[in-house]
Amino acid sequence: MTGKKPPKAVGKNARTIKGGASAAGGGKGGGPRGAQKTVRVKTREKRSISSSRWLERQLNDPYVAAAKSEGFRSRAAYKLIQINEELDFLRPGQRVINLGAAPGGWTQIAVDIVQPGRTGGKVVAIDYLEMVDVPESTFIQLDFMDNDAPQRLMEAIGGAADVVLSDMAPPTMGHRKTDHLRVMGLVEAAYEFAVEILSPGGVFLSKVFMGGTEKDLLNALKKDFSKVKHIKPHASRADSSEMYVVGMGFRS
Ligand SMILES: C[S@@+](CC[C@H](N)C(=O)[O-])C[C@H]1O[C@@H](n2cnc3c(N)ncnc32)[C@H](O)[C@@H]1O
Repeated sequence: MTGKKPPKAVGKNARTIKGGASAAGGGKGGGPRGAQKTVRVKTREKRSISSSRWLERQLNDPYVAAAKSEGFRSRAAYKLIQINEELDFLRPGQRVINLGAAPGGWTQIAVDIVQPGRTGGKVVAIDYLEMVDVPESTFIQLDFMDNDAPQRLMEAIGGAADVVLSDMAPPTMGHRKTDHLRVMGLVEAAYEFAVEILSPGGVFLSKVFMGGTEKDLLNALKKDFSKVKHIKPHASRADSSEMYVVGMGFRS
């Protein structure tokens, strides 16, 4: 084990995760049980150091193993589960927009809680990468920064949204300052979109990096939402500067 907390149970309403390989283990402390042996990569000499490190980390990551056994498409699913366990904002019947959705872990969780088929709620996801459809959700394959993206999302959701989720992250270039600016560009665009589409009381959740949210954006969020929080779920790797900002109680 890595010393990290193991994956916790799936969202409150979770039963069967749609579009997953298997039923979600909604039991207590769902995920790996007992001690895990550390796996070493045997083909080290054929790989670059960074690729060996990445592979070893994947092989030894309890969230990767749990996601596989519980039918989630990504370990990222646990981040949304944990954030929602703490802040409890996802509900059956909501209209949820999911920016940067591939491969689909967050969409699975959103669908499982919103239950669009039963409640008439909606989950609309966008990514420029391909994504296998998650049943009961709508997927748009498009760059969110494309001029048409806001309109396409608005049409698909068909009204005001209750929740806008963004887990968007551009591929890193390895240049710290450039990477930071690119991420912040996406966060700001997601935020501008959210304030256009959210209904009163709505929630905006976005991945941010470095020391949290830039001052100007944080000030804007504090004006637009009654409660603003930074949160780093256990499933977010400790050595990553990734964290999430959440605005709750949108003041329209
Ligand atoms: C960390 S992954 C999201 C994982 C996802 N939350 C899940 O649970 O499977 C980040 C995603 O953001 C997407 N992304 C980055 N920039 C984007 C953009 N401009 N438009 C759409 N998607 C974008 C990437 O393609 C990538 O799939």
